[in-house]
Amino acid sequence: MSKRLNGKTAIITGAASGIGLACAQRFAAEGANVVLADVDDARGKAATREIVGHGFNAQYLHTDVSQRQDLASLIEGTVRHFGQLDILISNAGIAKTIPFLEISDEEFERTLAVNLNSAFIGGQLAARQMVAQGGGGVIINMSSVNALLAIPGLVAYAVSKGGINQLTKVMALELAPHRIRVNAIGPGTILTELARSAVMENEAARKKVLSRTPMGRGGEPSEIASVALFLASEDSSYITGQTIYPDGGRLMLNYTVPVDTP
Ligand SMILES: NC(=O)c1ccc[n+]([C@@H]2O[C@H](COP(=O)([O-])OP(=O)(O)OC[C@H]3O[C@@H](n4cnc5c(N)ncnc54)[C@H](O)[C@@H]3O)[C@@H](O)[C@H]2O)c1
Repeated sequence: MSKRLNGKTAIITGAASGIGLACAQRFAAEGANVVLADVDDARGKAATREIVGHGFNAQYLHTDVSQRQDLASLIEGTVRHFGQLDILISNAGIAKTIPFLEISDEEFERTLAVNLNSAFIGGQLAARQMVAQGGGGVIINMSSVNALLAIPGLVAYAVSKGGINQLTKVMALELAPHRIRVNAIGPGTILTELARSAVMENEAARKKVLSRTPMGRGGEPSEIASVALFLASEDSSYITGQTIYPDGGRLMLNYTVPVDTP
């Protein structure tokens, strides 16, 4: 069977764990040269070694996405190593719960720098590279259902994800003439290591989340990677400027649904 990303080079930020790691593994298995970018060097390097161990092409590049210089080095390093850049997934993100009345300017700005400014700067640098190569490419920004919904204590996170959706639309409009498609993914609750322990192993938290999840379960990181693969591949060749929500039905739900006891 032909692989869907054969010969493509993809950068994935925040790829040392969770959703980013699942995307890196899936893209590599589909034939892409994958660059894993993260600040967690130990996990990032171990994940890269594992992907290479399966016979796929991958490289780890230390990148703090809140730093323009790091993002510039990431793009340069990718092109130096693999010769081109075809796909960027701006996925790295942080979420810290702090009450609105208490959050400091620094904490607010830090979340925006990591979650939103990084997608603007990384997207701009990646698109410039794609245009210089002659055009064509895919950019995927990681949003959240919190771009549209809100949770108390998550003001900076919600603002950053709302911004991601609008950033995605404007980038899509301006980059369409260069044959660069830009879309976003807005996951619901996805069972990364953190969510699995913080939400699913705590009965009160589990009930709260599942009462807002018609499909009755959290999503797997691999289910987000599948959407990313669709958006990165020719299967979505006429889709740009969209945010797709793999959320188990949360966004359509008003009120709550009953939760089974485990
Ligand atoms: N897990 C969920 O339920 C969920 C739901 C909606 C959206 N998302 C979004 O998906 C993305 C990935 O989240 P996840 O759940 O996999 O989280 P995660 O914490 O498992 O992974 C995030 C990765 O980003 C890295 N990172 C953090 N700050 C960084 C920085 N400054 N520079 C580079 N890398 C950095 C971390 O080291 C980590 O490897 C985030 O944008 C998050 O907002 C997650």
